[in-house]
Amino acid sequence: MKVLSGIQPTGRFHWGNYFGAIRQYIELQDNEQSFYFIADLHALTTVRDPKVLRQNIQDSALDLLALGLQPEKATLFRQSDVPEVAELTWLLMTITQMHLLEKCHAYKDKKARGLAADAGLFTYPVLMAADILMYDSNVVPVGVDQVQHIEVTRDLAQRFNSLYGDDCLVLPEAHVLDSSAKVPGTDGEKMSKSYGNTIPLFDTPKKIRKIINRIKTDSTPVEDPKTPEACAVFNLYRLFATPQQQDELAARYRAGGMGYGEAKTTLYEAAMAYFSESFEKRADLEQRPDDVEDILLQGAKQARQKARDVLERVRTACGLKSLPPEL
Ligand code: ADP
Ligand code: TRP
Repeated sequence: MKVLSGIQPTGRFHWGNYFGAIRQYIELQDNEQSFYFIADLHALTTVRDPKVLRQNIQDSALDLLALGLQPEKATLFRQSDVPEVAELTWLLMTITQMHLLEKCHAYKDKKARGLAADAGLFTYPVLMAADILMYDSNVVPVGVDQVQHIEVTRDLAQRFNSLYGDDCLVLPEAHVLDSSAKVPGTDGEKMSKSYGNTIPLFDTPKKIRKIINRIKTDSTPVEDPKTPEACAVFNLYRLFATPQQQDELAARYRAGGMGYGEAKTTLYEAAMAYFSESFEKRADLEQRPDDVEDILLQGAKQARQKARDVLERVRTACGLKSLPPEL
């Protein structure tokens, strides 16, 4: 399997990103090819402050490594370190029908809210298709919200192949985890940066505790029985707990006599234990920025080798000359 995925450095990663995306990357890193990149070119459609973007990119690299991405197994790189992807985006753009992009949700949602969308947001799925097709990827681990983009990628690859030759581009498949749509935020809705309801993966324990305390619960009195499945605290706890631990907490909800404050403490402790190794690893990496940069550059070197091969094939197929030698 040739696995590839990207994640946008648009802010600090949260529990939704981990359970919906990053954990899958890590589980798949033992494959024949596993490429993971920080989608900084994509992030430019939303992050307009260069200082913030630089910091986000650095934080993303630290977070991914701290959470268990191993550079010996997986190739980790910055999207913009492989400029070939911008060329492939153009080549794909020339065969992309407008209606395909008009129905994509990021653009459609923005338009429906009466906001002006720029061409970057409109053509975002084409850049994402190039990210995937650039490395002959056949498996793309993503959250459910990204499945539409994988469909677009398949459409574009099929169209390109039917115009220029059957074996030119590899058709990818989405690899979606069932739980990926379901990580709730502090308000019980889907956890997302855009809703301001996130629980960060890495912050001070005190801050994380404070955010957990803010999770919305109903007003059932302490002594009354409660429904675990209807409670965001319980649904978050499930991410960290074994089935047996889940059953135990569920039983305490149903029995009554336990307040939500206690459930929040249980959640906090479970989360801190779950991520304790990653906290230590991140603190260590933070002291070694040069090593982190080396990992990213080494990753980019490997990714570019593959990208050049694919671009050569694509250029030739559509009638362009081979890549010129380095001038
Ligand atoms: P955000 O919504 O916070 O801006 P992104 O859109 O950058 O997050 O998501 C990055 C990845 O994390 C995507 O693959 C997405 O599916 C996954 N993801 C984000 N939030 C959640 C969530 N609440 N539950 C499950 N997966 C999520
Ligand atoms: N669009 C994805 C997101 O917002 C990030 C991304 C960019 C991506 N290029 C990709 C994911 C290629 C998978 C494959 O989550």
